[in-house]
Amino acid sequence: MHFAFGQSFVSSEWRSSGIFGRCAARVCGRALVVLACTLAALPVAGCGGSSSVSPSPPPTAVAPTAAFTFLPTSPSTDQTVQFTDTSTGSPTSWVWTFGDGWTSTVQNPTHAYSSASTFSVTLTATNATGSGSATNTVGVAPTEARLNIVLGRPTDSSVAASVLADVGTQVYLEYGSAPGNYASATQPQTAATAYPVVIELGGLNPSSRYYYRARYRAASETSFHVEPERSFQTARAAGSAFSFAIQGDSHPERTNNMFNADLYALNMQNAAARQPDFYIALGDDFSVEPLLNKGSVTQSNVDQLFANQRSYFRLLGHSMSVFLVNGNHEQAAAYLLSDQYPTLYRDNPIFQGKARTTYFALPAPDVFYSGDTTPVAGVGLLRDYYAWEWGDALFVTIDPYWHSPVPVDDAVPGVNRTSDPWAITMGDEQYAWFKKVLETSHAKYKFVFEHHVLGTGRGAAALVHQYEWGGYDKSGTTYQFPAKRPTWYKPIHQLMVENKVTIFFAGHDHLFSREQVDGVIYQEVPNPADNTYTAFNADAYKPSKISLPGARYDPSYGVTMPNAGHLYVTVSPSHVTVAYVRAVLPGDESKAGATNGAVAFSYSLPAASADQMRPTRNSASTARLKTSARLVQ
Ligand SMILES: [Fe+2]
Repeated sequence: MHFAFGQSFVSSEWRSSGIFGRCAARVCGRALVVLACTLAALPVAGCGGSSSVSPSPPPTAVAPTAAFTFLPTSPSTDQTVQFTDTSTGSPTSWVWTFGDGWTSTVQNPTHAYSSASTFSVTLTATNATGSGSATNTVGVAPTEARLNIVLGRPTDSSVAASVLADVGTQVYLEYGSAPGNYASATQPQTAATAYPVVIELGGLNPSSRYYYRARYRAASETSFHVEPERSFQTARAAGSAFSFAIQGDSHPERTNNMFNADLYALNMQNAAARQPDFYIALGDDFSVEPLLNKGSVTQSNVDQLFANQRSYFRLLGHSMSVFLVNGNHEQAAAYLLSDQYPTLYRDNPIFQGKARTTYFALPAPDVFYSGDTTPVAGVGLLRDYYAWEWGDALFVTIDPYWHSPVPVDDAVPGVNRTSDPWAITMGDEQYAWFKKVLETSHAKYKFVFEHHVLGTGRGAAALVHQYEWGGYDKSGTTYQFPAKRPTWYKPIHQLMVENKVTIFFAGHDHLFSREQVDGVIYQEVPNPADNTYTAFNADAYKPSKISLPGARYDPSYGVTMPNAGHLYVTVSPSHVTVAYVRAVLPGDESKAGATNGAVAFSYSLPAASADQMRPTRNSASTARLKTSARLVQ
């Protein structure tokens, strides 16, 4: 029992004798001073000992009402759990049963569970009058999660959990709006051994954080194991601050060249620690070229590429949704479907599409998302381009690879990539959708994500004047857009300028770079797992490579930095902040010139000032397109 300084109390031992008398006592400093015991009125003294005790009626004989709390509320195996008695009725003895065969008679015991399961813990509290009992359930998770969970396609009322359950055959989720309080549960679903099962959570409230844990059991088991508690965020309302994170090309096929597994895992842990609402991967994460080169493109082998990435995305995907953007090395391109190519190559886009939509819960057009509505035989909806709003921001992902009718990149031996970049295109349908999405959104910030400007070449600002991105030929001498894209409104860059796109995020070049053209930030996202810590292709970002007469380009704004890491972006009603969070293996600090988890560079874009930098529809930048202004590269 605990006593406050100066507090008087009644000795329970005295009552236990069956005589309803009182002992007057007082806490003086750390000392408990018993002043007097009597059956009648008692003198009460302060610590100085001069007051008197008023008469009081004998206490009511009431058995304890048992109650207790415990922390942490979702412990893991071998983790110490502190149980705290909160019973009323002045119990004098306590008996705890922890549900795993262990007991205690301490008032506030600690206990650690050696196995993961759900345990019923009972406290029986006793005083001279009687006893009371209380039972609570303690869910103990394994120290390391065994299920591979990656969330996806979050909305303001739902999220999809893609669960790889190779250790169990039945899986369900229990969830609620407070830690440790799971008011709802899904029905158990049977998981296949190779493919994820998708568990949809619906009926959620917007702008809310939900807490959940997975339960699973094998066919031979009668009770469900419990996984660690996780949480996720539903779509934010306008005016709400939030964060998201982005990675560039992970290239797991480039081991010891551009990819280190430990560094990749470290990057994922860095990203998870900051708890963004979601994570966007910009492509070249499932590179198929090694299979093409070996002639071993099978559904199973392509699946393995996606399953391999799940082993990394699981490190953060249990608590945030993952969005995918196609890269050139995925070779998820419609041109390969042509009969002129061997079956091996024709199958690849279908295998890619099936694996991508099977292993990741990606958005399809619905009331929350818009996107590609054209189904592809053998795949269904591609889910390759899509858009959504979250807080004060619009998010748009676009894909130049599937929709180009020509080889955008070298994939088939003996078939070179197209020599006519005008043949590389997002396609009429995607362009019309992109234009509509940008024009109809009232979001304060607009973010666009694509693997790369034009889907080919090196650099960003160095390319924005070219082909369907800027309307000029490569040299910048001839404005060809009206003849080459007669049904399009404006080149992509100009469309983004006019619609006040805040930042265009791209990968492909394998470095960190920031540029700005006509008020649009072109943000190159670094590799997450490059333990050479190189700034690849930095030459393509040198201001000397960029000459855009008539465009608002400030060479001094450009920044390039080496790998590795991810971008952490915070969005608030007043500004956007982009931070480059470095990933550095232990011992590599000198080589990388950075420490792990450090923010190597950051910048903020105040909402108002970003708009002031933009040209109007009749400004010089737009007017440039109507002239034969010569661009020099
Ligand atoms: Fe790449």
